[in-house]
Amino acid sequence: MSTDKVSVHGSWASRWVFILAATGSAVGLGSIWKFPYMVGVYGGGAFVLMFLACIALIGVPVMLAETLIGRRARQSPANALKVLALEAGHSGKWSWGAFAGMVTALLILSFYSVVGGWSLDYIIDMGRGDFQGVTPDQVGAYFGNVIADPWRLTLWHTIFMLLSAVVIAKGVVAGLERSLRIMMPLLFVMILVLLGYSMTTGHFMEGVHFMFDFHPEKVLDGLLPAMGHAFFSLSVGVGSIMIYGAYMPKNSSISGTIVGVALLDTFVSLVAGLALFPIVFAAGLNPSEGPGLMFVSLPFAFGNVAFGQLMGVVFFVLVAIAAWSSAISLLEPMVAYLVERTKVSRAWVTFWLAFTCWFVGLGTVFSFNIWKEAKFFVNEGGLFHLYQWGAAGGLDFFGVIDFFTSRIMLPLGGLCFVVFAGWVMGREAVRDELSIRSPVLFALSLFLMRYVAPIGILVVFAAQLWK
Ligand code: PFF
Repeated sequence: MSTDKVSVHGSWASRWVFILAATGSAVGLGSIWKFPYMVGVYGGGAFVLMFLACIALIGVPVMLAETLIGRRARQSPANALKVLALEAGHSGKWSWGAFAGMVTALLILSFYSVVGGWSLDYIIDMGRGDFQGVTPDQVGAYFGNVIADPWRLTLWHTIFMLLSAVVIAKGVVAGLERSLRIMMPLLFVMILVLLGYSMTTGHFMEGVHFMFDFHPEKVLDGLLPAMGHAFFSLSVGVGSIMIYGAYMPKNSSISGTIVGVALLDTFVSLVAGLALFPIVFAAGLNPSEGPGLMFVSLPFAFGNVAFGQLMGVVFFVLVAIAAWSSAISLLEPMVAYLVERTKVSRAWVTFWLAFTCWFVGLGTVFSFNIWKEAKFFVNEGGLFHLYQWGAAGGLDFFGVIDFFTSRIMLPLGGLCFVVFAGWVMGREAVRDELSIRSPVLFALSLFLMRYVAPIGILVVFAAQLWK
């Protein structure tokens, strides 16, 4: 029986450690950096509502599917799909879907590490007191200077990548638990402290309205980005949660655990948004400013309150740790796969993969400075150019990778996993692995995986085409 399988990469000591690791993977730059700026760009309430709906109806079922596939097969995503498909009498080619997911994870890591590097940079800047008493204009200019310097970005990108690779090389199971046990709760506390601060700015309700007032005309614009971000935020669609599921102890309940992780992640995103926007409004910043939003608004706040310098350092240390624990989960699926498939040691595999991601990440580094004018997919008055230097529209290199991964590959990966768990694995295998006692809850889980999530993904894609 497949339930007796053991992972060669080790396993978590308990269900609690899985929760810690999965939360560490889910909570990261996606909640603290990306969610607020996307809410800003896509106009507030409609985006938030779509995001929440996508988390509940699509993200959670996909997460459930990934975890149960991983735990049943106890191998890297590509091998897991292959083994389980063959066991169920289907084609081993299902593994290609998971393989595409693992490559997507590496592409995400390439830019994730660059932004993780910004947080490292800001720890030092905060500690030096660079933001003491700054005006909003000065913080904006400061961030502009940071990203205009390719050497500076490359340095921190390199350090961030190295820090992630070290843990992976040693083996995730050994390295993660110790670091996350204290840091994750601290991060929650720190974000709540920030929320407390934003309530004193006099602009709190403005922030609440911005995040929750619903404007139906904005729904279609934000739908695909919201779905993509739901995947990104929960770390699903690429095999990260699947590989963590593969290290999950046998007798722990999957559904309750997954819902808990999803709730924590969503909670952090919402609180981060509620903490940030009042500061943005108080400082007179532009909410649709894009990727710089957090790196401009928060230093302004820290620079202008008592003990802000210390709090700022602590905050950026925690953000860096949250980013680092997510980065690890992006690298682990492919590392596990190559360790299973080749005779090469974990350390070497990690080194080469991290190096490759680092190299691709240079494209993101340069998007903010020397390649700023390099634009892809430019639509100029109905005329389409694949590439054009200096065009007004189009996407830069970072934009292309972000678009391709979040909007296309993550949802497709999620579709593959959820259809696999719902239709390919077989009802009994799923029932056995989920071990839900209540028949109603089991039926609901299966219904979500079989119908709601796949149809939901297809509907969002279709709405985008029809728009
Ligand atoms: N969920 C992480 C975040 O929100 O920062 C990012 C991420 C990790 C995305 C792992 C995808 C993934 F597989």
